[in-house]
Amino acid sequence: MDAVKDKKTIFSGMQPTGYPQLGNYLGAIKNWGQLQDEYNCLYCIVDLHAITVRQNPADLRKATRNLLAMYIACGLDPDKNIIYVQSHYAGHAELSWILGCYTYMGELGRMTQFKEKSEKHDANINTGLFTYPVLQTADILLFGTHLVPVGDDQRQHLELARDVAIRFNNIYGDVFTVPDAYIAKSGARIKSLTHPERKMSKSDEENSCISLLDSPEAVMRKFKRAVTDSETEIRYDAENKPGVSNLLEIYANCCDITLADAIAEFGGKNYGQLKTAVGEAVVGNIIQPIQARFNQVSAEADYLDNIMKNNAEKAAMIGQKILKKVKKKVGFVV
Ligand code: TYM
Repeated sequence: MDAVKDKKTIFSGMQPTGYPQLGNYLGAIKNWGQLQDEYNCLYCIVDLHAITVRQNPADLRKATRNLLAMYIACGLDPDKNIIYVQSHYAGHAELSWILGCYTYMGELGRMTQFKEKSEKHDANINTGLFTYPVLQTADILLFGTHLVPVGDDQRQHLELARDVAIRFNNIYGDVFTVPDAYIAKSGARIKSLTHPERKMSKSDEENSCISLLDSPEAVMRKFKRAVTDSETEIRYDAENKPGVSNLLEIYANCCDITLADAIAEFGGKNYGQLKTAVGEAVVGNIIQPIQARFNQVSAEADYLDNIMKNNAEKAAMIGQKILKKVKKKVGFVV
């Protein structure tokens, strides 16, 4: 895709750590595909972000290629979107350094994700983990992004990106577009199947999370074991019945129906019936079609390599204009 002038710009990204899970799909990638006609879209595979947690190099390389294939399998058309790998364009790291000089320690210390990841990886609380949101801010601001489609857990990072853009603009004039988060009403916070009070995450235990490459049997098994509550009535109450509410939300989203319709459909039914129906909807509407396309696309190594190379160049063409302006503004000899 070449950037079209009168369209607004969208940027979003995902870390190449393992395979995407159902929350990544419903909260992010599914929406990305729906935006590709209306906007100039850049969808990045954020490998620089991934190394804030220790990665096995061979696995990271493999996961990066797999995520590219997965983006396409999930409906992103490589002719309509700039799909590329973050480390293939050094502009991300350059702008991140500059913006780090306009971001306060206090702001970064307040980030929930930093606190959570520091607890989880307490033997490796590196500075990359701390400055992670600055790099994310650079990703977004580098392309004059208007909208950032993400799940609810990224809300705080988006606020920071806006604050940094406004701060920089207040000093140097109108350099950056101030981005807005685009958080869909449905699917923005898919919960863990075993601990439905917290979000689904691929770094949690196996049964809590549906990977997009899980077998249909595994998906059905995980939903059958999903934690619910000691009542019997199926109704939506995210606070008091987080497990059942999560299942209803997944069902509605996977069937593209409203939550109200999903709730009506299960009136008078039992939890077992709900779990089976959700599992079948996820398998039939999401897992099977995505896996079929993934198996095709991931076998075409040259095709994927070409996409990576060409699109990184396209991203660089767009990013270099803003980066040059930023460098001039701060006083570098360009
Ligand atoms: P990451 O890789 O953790 O997640 C990718 C996307 O999936 C969404 N998501 C969820 N949505 C609903 N329910 C869930 N349980 C769930 N889990 C994850 C995330 O909100 C995200 O949209 N820092 C980002 C990647 C990033 C980025 C960017 C995003 C780097 N630079 C610039 C936007 C713009 C991240 O770690 O996403």
